[in-house]
Amino acid sequence: MELLEGIETRRSFRAFKPTPIPEEIMGKILGAASNSPSYTNTQPWEVAVVSGKKKEELSRILLDLAKSAPPSPDLPLPQAWPPELEQRSREHGARRLKALGVEREDAEQREKLRLMNYEFYGAPCVIFLFMDRTLGEWSIFDMGLFAQNLILAAHSFGVESCLQASVTNYPDAVREFLGIPETKKLIIGISMGYPDMEARLNTYRALKQKPEEFTKWYK
Ligand SMILES: Cc1cc2nc3c(=O)[nH]c(=O)nc-3n(C[C@H](O)[C@H](O)[C@H](O)COP(=O)(O)O)c2cc1C
Repeated sequence: MELLEGIETRRSFRAFKPTPIPEEIMGKILGAASNSPSYTNTQPWEVAVVSGKKKEELSRILLDLAKSAPPSPDLPLPQAWPPELEQRSREHGARRLKALGVEREDAEQREKLRLMNYEFYGAPCVIFLFMDRTLGEWSIFDMGLFAQNLILAAHSFGVESCLQASVTNYPDAVREFLGIPETKKLIIGISMGYPDMEARLNTYRALKQKPEEFTKWYK
């Protein structure tokens, strides 16, 4: 796949086939992401790839927590957005519900949708990205670059993904389950697999701004 085509055609998928991702392919995806740029080449990323029975077990633990405990992520949840961003976030939520035919008032269906995050949307694999707790904002920037390269490399192999802040809501449980020390911050989870193109959830497309809406040119 050509680079520009890959960037332009990537999107989030939220329903996957159970087909596992061959380890050889995952190795190539991680190898490509390893070439990501980082602040003074510090490469802060630490990666856990979870699949099979381990993924099922972790999903059960997170589902139980998501039904019973308030979120307590390592990165604070956003408290308020500037109005324009708030508007985009609301629009995203509303369009996603519409694609599924779920009414805004239908609390039961909305809760189901929320909980699907913790089933990793049926993906055969979930990747967790950690970094050392002592690191600051520049390293989070680097983690974003790594995550983007990871999902673009995956996309080039037909492996699609959904970045998920939601699965970082219970970091202590994830660390305990994976045997990762408390000194590592959980930054993001990424569900990955081959998309189920029949699923209604995958019909949703996010709206994007045009370059002229976010760019000023200075000549
Ligand atoms: C940091 C971050 C966290 C996200 N968390 C979630 C999440 O918890 N659940 C989810 O379904 N999508 C999540 N997403 C996916 C976004 O909703 C998605 O990227 C956005 O709507 C744009 O759609 P696109 O990826 O198809 O371009 C997240 C994306 C990012 C970058």
